[in-house]
Amino acid sequence: MHILILGAPGSGKGTQGKILAERLGLPKITTGDLLRTAMTGGTPLGLDAKKYYDEGKLVPDSIILGMIKDELARPEAKDGAILDGFPRTAAQAELVDRTLAERGQRLNHILLLDVTEEELLRRLRSRARVEGRTDDSPEAVATRLQVYQRDTAPLIAHYAQRGIVHRVPGTGTVDEIAGEIKRIIGR
Ligand code: AP5
Ligand code: MG
Repeated sequence: MHILILGAPGSGKGTQGKILAERLGLPKITTGDLLRTAMTGGTPLGLDAKKYYDEGKLVPDSIILGMIKDELARPEAKDGAILDGFPRTAAQAELVDRTLAERGQRLNHILLLDVTEEELLRRLRSRARVEGRTDDSPEAVATRLQVYQRDTAPLIAHYAQRGIVHRVPGTGTVDEIAGEIKRIIGR
């Protein structure tokens, strides 16, 4: 079972992905977390990614595609995974589709967390005060929202053709949204 959680910055992909991964006993693969770990560790990949990340731009596919391939190839992800934050571009979507198809698998569900921009901004502003993520500055947040609309939102139409996109109202308590997701995927 491969489930993609799609949504704008701050829509709750990480929060709901964690709950879902624990419930289904599947690994959660989060490209943002992998990048943050690489940046903290000062690896060459982390250093390359940092200038894009800090400005709220997408890290180029030349860096991300290899990362996705490695993560999907991990033995833990053999029978399924929760994908948080990727695919985010057409090239990434193509890689995921092809990699899964080669194994006789496919994306089973796409959960689209639907949250108003006002609420996204409220959440990211409050996280900026608590955690200080480098891309939660007002400038980077504005760029992340634009990039989501331009590069990632078009993937919704790509997947909608297959009838696997479920729109999840992403405003409400964390438990309410988790309950709705459980109802949608039936487990
Ligand atoms: P990434 O780390 O994926 O960040 P994002 O997409 O901007 O989203 P966030 O992680 O900020 O939000 P979320 O949707 O996970 O929500 P969360 O649960 O945290 O990517 C960061 C950057 O890395 C990108 O800009 C790019 O540079 C790079 N990158 C990553 N993947 C890439 C890729 N595939 N290709 C290229 N570049 C890539 O919730 C947000 C906040 O709200 C939290 O504080 C949470 O506690 C709170 N919250 C959650 N749910 C609720 C609720 N129901 N009510 C109230 N508050 C809530
Ligand atoms: Mg996240």
